[in-house]
Amino acid sequence: MKKAMIIGASFGIGKALAKQLSAAGVEVGLAARRYELLAKLRDDLPGPSYIKKVDTADSERSSILLKELLDEMNWADAVFICSGVGYLEGEMDWSQEKETIDVNVTGFVSCSNMLMEHFIENGRGHLVGISSIAALRGSGGAVTYAASKAFVSNYLKGLRQKVKKLGCDEIAVTEI
Ligand SMILES: NC(=O)c1ccc[n+]([C@@H]2O[C@H](COP(=O)([O-])OP(=O)(O)OC[C@H]3O[C@@H](n4cnc5c(N)ncnc54)[C@H](OP(=O)(O)O)[C@@H]3O)[C@@H](O)[C@H]2O)c1
Repeated sequence: MKKAMIIGASFGIGKALAKQLSAAGVEVGLAARRYELLAKLRDDLPGPSYIKKVDTADSERSSILLKELLDEMNWADAVFICSGVGYLEGEMDWSQEKETIDVNVTGFVSCSNMLMEHFIENGRGHLVGISSIAALRGSGGAVTYAASKAFVSNYLKGLRQKVKKLGCDEIAVTEI
């Protein structure tokens, strides 16, 4: 792998992945909402990187911005969708549930669609998404999060079948 894009790279797993890939000589494109964290990460990485402020909850705009990032990088062999939100739910809270669905479901599909189109056009690529053990059963403490991750798991399994059906042998889909 020579170039990788990480969506949700400002913090947590995405940030750790950016550091590991950069240390291994991979050029990275980093996206998230907190631009200042991305800029700091870019300064700390040993290799070349590109950054873009993207809010995946805004699916229309994020597709355009992620495409711009891909163009600036001039290709990505692999894209890791690490962006995700989850709340420990107490009271019913629609604004938190809506954000969880907007990012983990609608935003996830919108990013994946744009990236798969790009991979199919180029005949190769690797899409990696992060689900959760929470996908395997309902959770009374995080109802919408667990349901959103069940969606992610099912979606990625289906996408893998779809690229096989389309005969795209050089395109891989991985569910973590
Ligand atoms: N950590 C775990 O134990 C664990 C376990 C199972 C699954 N997961 C999954 O793994 C993924 C990463 O988890 P994490 O622990 O690294 O989470 P985290 O530390 O909270 O980091 C989440 C990342 O997603 C980005 N993000 C959130 N909302 C976004 C939005 N609207 N647009 C763009 N980027 C957004 C955040 O950046 P900004 O806030 O700067 O936008 C941040 O970079 C998530 O999907 C999570 O559900 C994590």
